[in-house]
Amino acid sequence: MNNIDLFTVSDAERERALAHAKFAAAEAAKIPDLPAGLRLRPIHKVAVIGAGTMGGGIAMSLANIGVPVTLIDASAQGLERGLERVKDNYATSVKRGKLAQADMDQRLALITGSLQMVDVKDADMVIEAVFEDMDLKQDIFRQLDALAKPGAILATNTSGLDVDKIAAVTQRPEDVVGAHFFSPAHIMKLLEVVRTTKTAPDVIATLMDLGRRMGKIAVLARIYPGFIGNALFRNYTREAHFLVEDGALPHEVDQVLTKFGYAMGIFAVHDMAGNDVGYQTRKAQMATRPNDRRWNDLIMKLCDLGRLGQKVGKGWYRYEKGNRAAQRDSEVEDFIVQESARMGIKRQAKSEDEILKRCLYGMINEGAKLLEQGIALRPSDIDITYLTGYGFPAHHGGPMYLADRIGLAKVYADIQRFHKQDGFWWQPAPLLEKLVREGKCFADLQTGA
Ligand SMILES: NC(=O)c1ccc[n+]([C@@H]2O[C@H](COP(=O)([O-])OP(=O)(O)OC[C@H]3O[C@@H](n4cnc5c(N)ncnc54)[C@H](O)[C@@H]3O)[C@@H](O)[C@H]2O)c1
Repeated sequence: MNNIDLFTVSDAERERALAHAKFAAAEAAKIPDLPAGLRLRPIHKVAVIGAGTMGGGIAMSLANIGVPVTLIDASAQGLERGLERVKDNYATSVKRGKLAQADMDQRLALITGSLQMVDVKDADMVIEAVFEDMDLKQDIFRQLDALAKPGAILATNTSGLDVDKIAAVTQRPEDVVGAHFFSPAHIMKLLEVVRTTKTAPDVIATLMDLGRRMGKIAVLARIYPGFIGNALFRNYTREAHFLVEDGALPHEVDQVLTKFGYAMGIFAVHDMAGNDVGYQTRKAQMATRPNDRRWNDLIMKLCDLGRLGQKVGKGWYRYEKGNRAAQRDSEVEDFIVQESARMGIKRQAKSEDEILKRCLYGMINEGAKLLEQGIALRPSDIDITYLTGYGFPAHHGGPMYLADRIGLAKVYADIQRFHKQDGFWWQPAPLLEKLVREGKCFADLQTGA
């Protein structure tokens, strides 16, 4: 079989990929192990804890479908800022002609601010969106356990903490669930619903349904570091960073990714989001992480040099004042070359083929691991997660769909080659090996249940 050209997609292939996305969105709503005729818990009122970036967006998503929300923050300043941001977001929509002033007023009237945790008492669901800190979240859930009414759903918007550990501090772990919204929460279509070992079936069904009512695609995941989306994303970014350490420059990696169809390359994305996102967490993890494998710490070093991204005019690129266009910067490129030498790496030019395969195949291999462990229910759930939450080019149909199109035997052979060459991170997923041995593809795993 000939190799397919991943940079050129025919009209017919594009159509097939878009049809797959439609199919995947419908499949994601089906949960095979939920009892038939399950009654949903009524959600008439919600409390959101934490009026930050996520809390405000979640409150808007609920107000947009007519659900009253109490937005609770510990700090008066945090609450004020949060409510102000909500108002500004609605006002922008009005200014752009996307929302009537009367609708804005109606929606704003549904969002009430509070500084008291006790105001969760009449909520049918509480969604926690405070800082990403296990101790803090456990403290909040202890309070919720004491204050929320019986039968209230207790959800956390954690990006990756173990939801079982959060549920364990309550007397009602069956009511606890992960509700992983994406930023900005009032716009992004993806909602990862994370079931713990104890989450009750009607809690899962209710949150999936609420996601759909908010106009989102709800995808069910089990607990795993980074759930579905961030687990794959970790592999994508890691390889992009290793490529830069091994010989490519940031713009070379980004050019391949945009040529493949991403709206932005990963280094431009880092600069936009801020290279310091997650800096503290990473720094804390560095002391105890295993040292039998390679880690990519270049981004930390950029932060230490003050190269935080667009907000300071320099990161992986440099930016002219008032202009978001990324410019190559010899200063950072020289630094990267020096760092490779310091790490004892002999830099070698990277082909487009190697850049693309390393960025994509790490995700596909991880996707196979999620499937064999039951973290994701089906390959199409991974695809729709990527299409709706991570900007995967729609005309490629998602990473697992694309893997089938390339041919799993070919993907597996490359993963084995990368494993030989780069070790630990490329251990092939046993499921991938099995599918290849049996001459099957990911689509054969779709249960359709
Ligand atoms: N920002 C993102 O892109 C993103 C995406 C998905 C998930 N998340 C997750 O959402 C959560 C919130 O993230 P964020 O970016 O909105 O944070 P943020 O820093 O913007 O907001 C956190 C808010 O929580 C408030 N808070 C802190 N302690 C509190 C307490 N004890 N009681 C009540 N309020 C308290 C703070 O005052 C602040 O307003 C985190 O778990 C994060 O991992 C964030």
